[in-house]
Amino acid sequence: MTAESGRVPPGAPVVELRDATVRVGRRVIWSDVSVAIAPGEFTAILGPNGAGKSTLLKVLLGMLALESGSARVLGAAPGVHRDAIGYLPQHRDLAAAGRIQGREIVRLGLTGAHWGIPVPIVGRRRRRDESGRIDEVLDLVDARAYADRPFGELSGGEQQRLLIAQAVVRHPALLILDEPLDSLDLPNQAAVVRLIREVCSAQNVAALLVAHDVNPLLPALDHVVYVANGRASQGPVREVITTANLSDLFGVPIEVLSTSDGRLVVVGQPEAPHHHGHRHEYQGRE
Ligand SMILES: Nc1ncnc2c1ncn2[C@@H]1O[C@H](COP(=O)(O)OP(=O)(O)O)[C@@H](O)[C@H]1O
Ligand SMILES: [Mg+2]
Repeated sequence: MTAESGRVPPGAPVVELRDATVRVGRRVIWSDVSVAIAPGEFTAILGPNGAGKSTLLKVLLGMLALESGSARVLGAAPGVHRDAIGYLPQHRDLAAAGRIQGREIVRLGLTGAHWGIPVPIVGRRRRRDESGRIDEVLDLVDARAYADRPFGELSGGEQQRLLIAQAVVRHPALLILDEPLDSLDLPNQAAVVRLIREVCSAQNVAALLVAHDVNPLLPALDHVVYVANGRASQGPVREVITTANLSDLFGVPIEVLSTSDGRLVVVGQPEAPHHHGHRHEYQGRE
């Protein structure tokens, strides 16, 4: 458990933002955001399009500096323990991966030099050493059956499992997944959520996952960060996603309904405008 390995001491947060403010160009995307995530926790990052969810991930990855406040990731400044993070970006250029075999997509996660879909160039000896771990991860995501087929010929759900396998193959201490449920049908969403939950629990990996709908995540979630209106609210799901809390966060009346089967419905959530300003700008919108 050394700082070098990117593992934090027991009790210390894996991710910690304190009064963090980020600016892109002349725009403040969000400000005074404080977040603390413990090892093994499964956290959803929710909020409207353009609210700054991907921006939050970029800060944690060390790709974007804060304007003020502080950020610690795996006990160090963001970017220091890059190699201990498994990352699945939101915009994935899968066309480039079309003819690459499924298991080669997973192998790319071992090189650690790239995130996403780079070109695989790996020597023969290293390939042998890596094969055991790749098989292990293919089993974990239940992808052995199609791992030898070209990536481009697989279904969305199959591709997603392989990309998650790529993100976890190096035993990361932190998983950062930007909208991994996008474009999956409900059964596949549920399967991917179970899979991530398993990785969190079995390997004490913290997972941060950006999503649009909290419902597929509810059975698995520990923690929520809700980004909206230039601010963020965080905590346990049933404390964050409430009528009072979201109304306060958005600055307009929001209603959270709980269905008889336990799902949450958020009514009246405005989309973020292109140019973020004061809260009253949202008045009168849906
Ligand atoms: N490189 C950039 N240059 C200018 N604006 C950006 C850049 N990246 C993101 N933004 C803006 O920052 C805001 C937050 O973006 P993002 O974090 O991607 O939102 P989300 O992931 O919540 O949909 C958006 O309004 C977006 O247009
Ligand atoms: Mg995004």
